[in-house]
Amino acid sequence: MKLFSSVNDVTDIKQLVASALALKANPYAHSDLGKNKTLGLVFMNPSLRTRLSTQKAALNLGMNVMVMNMDKEGWALETQDGVIMNGTTVEHIREAAAVMGEYCDVLGLRSFPKLQNREEDYNEEFFNKFVKFCGVPVVSLESATRHPLQSLADLVTIHETWETYRIDAKAKPKVVLAWAPHIKPLPQAVPNSFAEWMSRAQAEGMLDFTIAQPEGFELNENFTSGAKISHDLDEAIADADYVYVKNWSSYKEYGKLLDFPEGWMMDNEKLKLTSNAKVMHCLPVRRDLELASEILDGPNSLVIHEAGNRLWSAQAVLKAMLEEIK
Ligand code: CP
Repeated sequence: MKLFSSVNDVTDIKQLVASALALKANPYAHSDLGKNKTLGLVFMNPSLRTRLSTQKAALNLGMNVMVMNMDKEGWALETQDGVIMNGTTVEHIREAAAVMGEYCDVLGLRSFPKLQNREEDYNEEFFNKFVKFCGVPVVSLESATRHPLQSLADLVTIHETWETYRIDAKAKPKVVLAWAPHIKPLPQAVPNSFAEWMSRAQAEGMLDFTIAQPEGFELNENFTSGAKISHDLDEAIADADYVYVKNWSSYKEYGKLLDFPEGWMMDNEKLKLTSNAKVMHCLPVRRDLELASEILDGPNSLVIHEAGNRLWSAQAVLKAMLEEIK
């Protein structure tokens, strides 16, 4: 694997999930694979889980790791070609990415959308230019439209726990992506990516997938192929085995914080409608705004387990890359 930017870069998702769980069982089995190899992690935006789990994953594989908080520590980057750089930008992405490629064998990049220009964000202009100019394999640490390391960890978590939580003869879990309230307009990267990975898992017979969102919050259809779509949360979560809670801003009225109806926050009352569902969230989460504390602090929450699996997911992806470039 030379690029990990979406589920489309993965040939066999079941094998990648199995690899993550094998690494969880035996973290240091490949501790020589990354010897004398360097991972550079470049952040244009804040992070806790992605930063620490990817660093730890690389260390488990014997890699050296360098982290650059580009938004705070780097030169202001120009991304457009053909401009005279007589304004605030100091370095062009052409040189900056190429130079980082000189120092690193693998690079990771986090670059959130600006949520101002839908075409620019959905063309992944910044991420794609970085990939093009750095010249080494790249792992997405969350781009404008996707967060594949998170989605892989989510699939690992569902696959890993289903054997424990499955009820009687039910063959496949019902997984629901449920929109949640927020006070700020958030990117669609996590739900897009979750939808894309769950749709692929559904196509491979691993689960059944439903998306619940209020009118106006429909995701781009390119990410939701095969998903059941509902505008009624209570109806969507009936008999659910996993509810994945996440806010996102409008795609249609791009980046807007639209008005939304009451009753979209998951709490213990809503949980009664489900099949004793396990509740997931990528974190960070705003308690009692997006998701009730009583769920986060209760037995149905998988959020810490899920965050823990970020490590094994990142390690599985880095392992696949190292095997390719060795
Ligand atoms: N879920 C997630 O990506 O967390 P961070 O933004 O803290 O990395």
